[in-house]
Amino acid sequence: MNVVLLGAPGAGKGTQASRIQEKYKLLHISTGDIFRANIKGGTEIGKLAKSYIDAGKLVPDEVTCDIVKDRLTWDDANCGYMLDGFPRNVFQAEELDKFAKVDLCLNIAVDEKLLMDRICGRRVCACGESYHVSTLNGATVCKKCGGELYQRADDNPETVKSRLETYNTQTAPLIDYYGAQGKLKTVNCGNDSPDEVFAKICEILDK
Ligand code: AP5
Ligand code: MG
Repeated sequence: MNVVLLGAPGAGKGTQASRIQEKYKLLHISTGDIFRANIKGGTEIGKLAKSYIDAGKLVPDEVTCDIVKDRLTWDDANCGYMLDGFPRNVFQAEELDKFAKVDLCLNIAVDEKLLMDRICGRRVCACGESYHVSTLNGATVCKKCGGELYQRADDNPETVKSRLETYNTQTAPLIDYYGAQGKLKTVNCGNDSPDEVFAKICEILDK
């Protein structure tokens, strides 16, 4: 099964993807993680992506689509995957439909008022885990691998405002795009904890 994970910045796509990967063995592919790895590695793609990411804007479609198209040809993508952060506008969704088959779009819906605090309080580990300072009790290392936790460069109030605007204008229309294809399932999170949200996702995936 191939799944698109849709949701605003901070909705919990990465948090849920990690749980889904563990339970359902679907490969987690995050375009944001791929760009951050390229930035860290100092590649040409990283140099290009950095200016867009720092501004809370989308990295150009051609670059992003080529990366995903290539990634899906790797052997580990044969048994199903979850796309986290792709597609991010209708153009990318149309391109994806040309080179892959999407079975389900899981839309993680969270009240926008909660997102700023979630993102600015997030601490991440290089292994992919993310935490919120309010649940860390002062810990500075990852509970899963012991790696040092850090704050993402784009997790500051100014960039988050721009990311939310980008989401509302460019990404939210995908709700209708996948709705029209009959592939959309929305998980309304309310104030649910990550485990409660995951239980709702499991109900959908188990069907
Ligand atoms: P990307 O890395 O995809 O960032 P994003 O979409 O802004 O989403 P986040 O990773 O910030 O949030 P998340 O939904 O994963 O939340 P998380 O689980 O961490 O993209 C970054 C940038 O890369 C983009 O701005 C763009 O520039 C570029 N880019 C990426 N893809 C692109 C594309 N396709 N095209 C063009 N450009 C692209 O959770 C957030 C926090 O909340 C954590 O602290 C977590 O612990 C906490 N939390 C999670 N769930 C809950 C819960 N239920 N209750 C309480 N707290 C919770
Ligand atoms: Mg994420």
